[in-house]
Amino acid sequence: MPVFYKPVPTSEHDDEESQNLTKSRSARIKTTLFYFVATIAVMYVAYLATRSIIRSVPKHGMHGRPGCHHRNLTTLPSHHILPSGDKIPSVALGVWQAGKGEVGAAVQTALKTGYRHIDGAWIYGNEEEVGKAISASGVPRDQLWLTSKLWNNFHAPEDIEPALDETLTRLNTEYLDLYLIHWPIAFKKGSNNVLDKELTANPYPTWQKLEELVDKGKIRNIGISNFNIARIKNLTANPLKHKPAVNQVELNYFNPQPELLKWSKENGLLLEAYSPLGSTKQVKEALSVPEVKEIAKKLDITPAQALISWHVQRGTIVLPKSVTPSRVQENFQVVTLPDDLFDKLEKAATSHPPQRVVNPSKNWGLDFDVFDENWPL
Ligand code: A2P
Repeated sequence: MPVFYKPVPTSEHDDEESQNLTKSRSARIKTTLFYFVATIAVMYVAYLATRSIIRSVPKHGMHGRPGCHHRNLTTLPSHHILPSGDKIPSVALGVWQAGKGEVGAAVQTALKTGYRHIDGAWIYGNEEEVGKAISASGVPRDQLWLTSKLWNNFHAPEDIEPALDETLTRLNTEYLDLYLIHWPIAFKKGSNNVLDKELTANPYPTWQKLEELVDKGKIRNIGISNFNIARIKNLTANPLKHKPAVNQVELNYFNPQPELLKWSKENGLLLEAYSPLGSTKQVKEALSVPEVKEIAKKLDITPAQALISWHVQRGTIVLPKSVTPSRVQENFQVVTLPDDLFDKLEKAATSHPPQRVVNPSKNWGLDFDVFDENWPL
């Protein structure tokens, strides 16, 4: 007759066998339970580790400020820390040559995309529209990085604060994050071609006034633009209270300035790349460079993204200009280039004779080249 139940043990032997069976069963259950708990624990630790790695990768474009929504494609620096401790975002919207009637929309698109850095200047003539677009965006001021520049005919110490105030009013802000001496060239007040030889040869009085405005709270950082090494040394030989925070210069495939970049890194001076795509004049050629196209193809990005990423990977701030919404969005996507592709592009860029896009020396009627390392006056 089949047994459908476990019979009650009737002898001592049966009793012992049954106890052994129970023990081994409970040992098996314990082992299974142990492995189960251990597996869960290992999986949980792996999950925590992955989460913390993902969180530790900087989100490009926000640069340490809250409120950004940006695809996380890179481990490249989202910002740099200036001597003041302020964090300057690596990618800005440049608004030089962004015309009236189009610049406001470009700024709005940029801010919606996640840009928090707008690079402008008094001379661009569009600060009012930029200011309106910023106000309309609703992005809190403390989440924005605003740069402007002192034009050449305001270098006299008494002219600087009124020029700055005009910029502040137009941008509808109480302070600038960064104010640059636009060119190492001073014109006499009210003129655009009469050289002020004294202030050009010695920009220290201009710098001292800017330092005063930092201390007054109207500017958080001061810097220079279009200064070569000789002119930087000429300025910094003075007992500066605030060092130049950045030097904004032309940097692109055609004019990559490797010596200036190396010297600036060695001397702790951050470079900002204007005309990073070669400006309107040369953007087409820059985007067609074989090494740029190769990177774009291999990484499944656009040529503009390859170039902008190259700038960030070189350790500079990059200021691409666009008034085309899709390009403004495109230019904010930075990707880490593999070393071999980065080196190949760097080599190609630095192996041909440099060719500047921007050099106003002749237009200004100067009898010397503003970029001449010997800068005779
Ligand atoms: P647009 O403003 O009409 O979009 P740079 O930043 O070197 O000064 O270059 C600016 C020039 O490059 C402008 O003519 C701009 O045109 C163009 N440009 C900007 N971004 C891109 C892009 N992603 N693809 C192609 N052209 C671009």
